[in-house]
Amino acid sequence: ATGLLQDTLSRPLRDLRISVTDRCNFRCGYCMPKEVFDKHYRYLPHSDLLSFEEITRLARLFMAHGVRKIRLTGGEPLLRKDLENLVAQLAELRTLEGRVPDLTLTTNGSLLARKARALKAAGLRRVTVSLDSLQDDVFRRMNDVDFPVADVLAGIEAAQAVGLEHIKVNMVVKRGTNDHEIPAMARHFRGTGITLRFIEYMDVGATNGWRMDEVLPSAEVIARLQAELPLVPLAAQSAGETAKRWGYAGPDGRHDPRLGEVGVISSVTQAFCGDCNRARLSMEGRLYLCLFASQGWDLRSLLRGSAGDAQISAAIAHIWQGRGDRYSELRASLPPETGGGQRRIEMSYIGG
Ligand code: GTP
Ligand code: 5AD
Ligand code: SF4
Ligand code: SF4
Repeated sequence: ATGLLQDTLSRPLRDLRISVTDRCNFRCGYCMPKEVFDKHYRYLPHSDLLSFEEITRLARLFMAHGVRKIRLTGGEPLLRKDLENLVAQLAELRTLEGRVPDLTLTTNGSLLARKARALKAAGLRRVTVSLDSLQDDVFRRMNDVDFPVADVLAGIEAAQAVGLEHIKVNMVVKRGTNDHEIPAMARHFRGTGITLRFIEYMDVGATNGWRMDEVLPSAEVIARLQAELPLVPLAAQSAGETAKRWGYAGPDGRHDPRLGEVGVISSVTQAFCGDCNRARLSMEGRLYLCLFASQGWDLRSLLRGSAGDAQISAAIAHIWQGRGDRYSELRASLPPETGGGQRRIEMSYIGG
């Protein structure tokens, strides 16, 4: 049976985030710290990864359950060879309403200048680029592989030039590391049509040595911006959004659409689990129902066994209908550093 699913908290399934590789060419300290992800780290062998055909088959079954948005993530998704071929296959799929999926990608931008045109031609609609700093020395330190910021900025320009829509830039804010750049980042992207979003540094995974005192609450981000660039709150565009939207105000004090908007993603200080409609599929075909889950559901053995579409579809329904995850909400009531006990999956394994 297909159609709309609801979990135990009455949340529908709308957003499927597919991680296509566990590798990345950056070593951001909050995600893949060098000390852990060194030359001894064992990445998955290629045979463990879902093929593009397997991913597309699962995506089709998820869309028959109401998924409308598909986001490709990693690791760094553009490291997966011929990714545009996967994009082309996913772009052929249709939602329950018969529309094309909202097909997008989260990337560190390092390979975007090279790949933007092929991705757009294959049917990618939009893109989100992670960018934590405009200052070359700070950027090189944060990616920890000495990667120059100019190359990522060139990637963003290429994405604009080939006509990718609604480009977003995600900045993870770490107090004491890059929080001084909040106004400069805002000024840089204001009026360009690109939406900048400030993300609270989160306690994902088990390796990044997260500390609350390095989190800059979103309320403070907005207060600092307000002091220089007037903002007005904007209404949410759809249920289950991660970001709270703020528009740049014109001289009349109202939102000036030409100046655009910023967003704040506050999973630490203001959890947004209440209408979380996101499922995450790992590169090896495990389904995770929360960014902070410690266990996923193996769909690959169904794909590689004799299961037909109906059986896999029923498994997806059953898993979603049993979901009760709301980690960030619960987290707020736990003492710091307890984190729920079990070892959590890494962000580089399940994507942002
Ligand atoms: P848009 O449709 O482009 O607005 O996408 P999005 O906001 O869903 O996606 P994006 O990948 O840009 O998410 C931005 C960041 O928000 C991620 O990198 C994560 O840090 C965080 N995030 C996304 N989804 C969740 C979630 O379900 N829970 C928590 N706690 N954080 C999330
Ligand atoms: N806290 C917040 N955001 C994170 N990301 C990775 N690790 C963290 C973390 N600990 C974000 C990246 C990127 C996306 C893939 O996930 O900045 O935007
Ligand atoms: Fe790579 Fe993104 Fe993780 Fe940085 S945050 S290490 S770019 S996957
Ligand atoms: Fe969804 Fe889990 Fe994030 Fe809450 S913590 S918004 S349930 S992914």
